Amino acid sequence: MTSLDKEVLNYDILKINLNTKYIGRTVFSFNELDSTNTYAKSIASNLDGEGQVIITEKQLNGRGRLGRQWQSQNNKGIWMSIILKPTISIADVSKITQVTAAAIYLGLLSQGVKAEIKWPNDIIINNKKICGILVEMNSEKIINSGAGDSKINYLIVGIGLNVNNEIDDFPEELRDIASSLKIETNKEFKRSVILAEILNNFEKLYMDLNNNDFSKALDTCRNNSYVIGKEINLIKNQELIEAKAIDISNDGELIVMYKNGKLDNIISGEVSVRISKINQ
Ligand code: BTN
Repeated sequence: MTSLDKEVLNYDILKINLNTKYIGRTVFSFNELDSTNTYAKSIASNLDGEGQVIITEKQLNGRGRLGRQWQSQNNKGIWMSIILKPTISIADVSKITQVTAAAIYLGLLSQGVKAEIKWPNDIIINNKKICGILVEMNSEKIINSGAGDSKINYLIVGIGLNVNNEIDDFPEELRDIASSLKIETNKEFKRSVILAEILNNFEKLYMDLNNNDFSKALDTCRNNSYVIGKEINLIKNQELIEAKAIDISNDGELIVMYKNGKLDNIISGEVSVRISKINQ
């Protein structure tokens, strides 16, 4: 065990590097939870305001996108959720994933780590995934809205970032595709500093989005994209479609070109993006 393994994440240690107004100003910290996203959902409706952070040293049932599991049974990563009550429309919710990815990218860069963003929700270093984002929404139909409009009750932004994990901490079948900051940089990191830097960047980009300005998050995702220009496989309902990633649209969708030359805009929802072997 190293000295950094003993650092426990809570508000007292986080606030040293936090310069936000409201994101992360209330922190619920745990030694063990099933899943920070699940816990966040259970309290979100009863909380006033937004920006509360749930953080745990270990998750017993960490959840990933598309019903996958997320390995988080140790205290070497950052396993956290942010509760949001944004003023954006439901059509813009997928932009929150891009805002989060950009905030993680910028937070890591502030610590000298250059990562790449794999649209829509992965952070990559040296072709390996070190971080995933899981955004979950609770919404309801607005009664008497002729247009059938819905309003967002809350969003939960879950972030799983492998920080000081060793190679042995990953199951063998994940070792080719998953990694940690420590494995990729040969350095240990203070999780509290990285967490604070992510939240500092998140608040700025999130406030911009609420003011209809998605430009900085979008530029960050475009300029540091792991997928743009690459041959990819889109997997939807177990069907594999070959395409080339061309760009990210102004609304945060992935613009792809199919083999027949047709262009399409992909919304993150249920699609899994794999980089074709040709590129590797
Ligand atoms: C993915 O890449 O599939 C998303 C992974 C998200 C994992 C984080 S860890 C904290 C939060 N709580 C969860 O159960 N999942 C997210």
